[in-house]
Amino acid sequence: MLQEVLESLSERPRRLPSKYFYDARGSELFDAICELPEYYVTRTELSLMETHVDQMAAALGPRVCLVEMGSGSGVKTRRLLSELDAPAAYVPVEIARDHLVDSVGRLGEEFPELEISAVCGDFLQPLRLPPLSSEPRRYVVYFPGSTIGNLTTEGADALLSRFSDLVREAGREAAARVPGGLLLGVDLQKDVAVLEAAYNDAAGLTAEFNLNLLAHLNRRLGTQIPLDAFAHEAPYVAESERIEMRLRALRRVEFELAGRRFVVEAGEPLVTEYSHKYALEPFRTRLADRGWQVRQVWTDPQQYFALIYAEAR
Ligand code: TRP
Repeated sequence: MLQEVLESLSERPRRLPSKYFYDARGSELFDAICELPEYYVTRTELSLMETHVDQMAAALGPRVCLVEMGSGSGVKTRRLLSELDAPAAYVPVEIARDHLVDSVGRLGEEFPELEISAVCGDFLQPLRLPPLSSEPRRYVVYFPGSTIGNLTTEGADALLSRFSDLVREAGREAAARVPGGLLLGVDLQKDVAVLEAAYNDAAGLTAEFNLNLLAHLNRRLGTQIPLDAFAHEAPYVAESERIEMRLRALRRVEFELAGRRFVVEAGEPLVTEYSHKYALEPFRTRLADRGWQVRQVWTDPQQYFALIYAEAR
């Protein structure tokens, strides 16, 4: 964590790694954001699941091992698992330990027959799946919430390639007979006012979530960064096709980290997260270039969000 924070703080513009949003408070705030009237993302994806989950389950087929990257509170997962035909195993990968333990406990009670093998860790790092006692017919990476959009373009491309390697290798070891799959949520391009409202909510929860990253760093790394010296902003940057979440210094701030002195000038931004918005057609090509053949796409009537099912070729 120290190394990652030192490196990203030394970039220009300065950045902070967005995975550190998710301490206990951050996970709680994130769940609250998902319920905001302005935040259409979760609601739209959930209703897509409600409407088409039978088709999704049919596409994935029987005896799937579902590997979920960044499992969060597991609301969408529950919907999918309950529809799948005799799922073989569920492997949630999640960095927020308390959140993970909590949601795995609840899922275990609801799906007593299901083999659950949780991984507390960072899905951006290379991952080996835990050994399973069941024999899955197919490995499927489940990556909802448009979390893919929170990476840089290069980071997202690398991750898509890594996921196709992961299902291919897991499938080979388990002698699975069908190609591995990817069920991916992507947030689509839309009216800028709708986008900006979603990340600048009236209740100020996203601002609090953004600032909580500094509180988390202070607690974990012993920095003394004053939270009141930074303001949340999240404009849509059209050239980059993304929302850029930042913390902008309201005054000059000095702090120390691992014996190094950092000076953030008044007006200087710390970039905390991107949220890329996609057009569907270019995204298909991008998937194809990373070893994924798109099989099915589900979108809502407003075309706000898409769930994509692709198979490793
Ligand atoms: N991936 C989602 C998005 O970009 C959820 C998300 C991640 C988010 N970090 C966030 C939402 C910060 C609001 C604020 O929309």
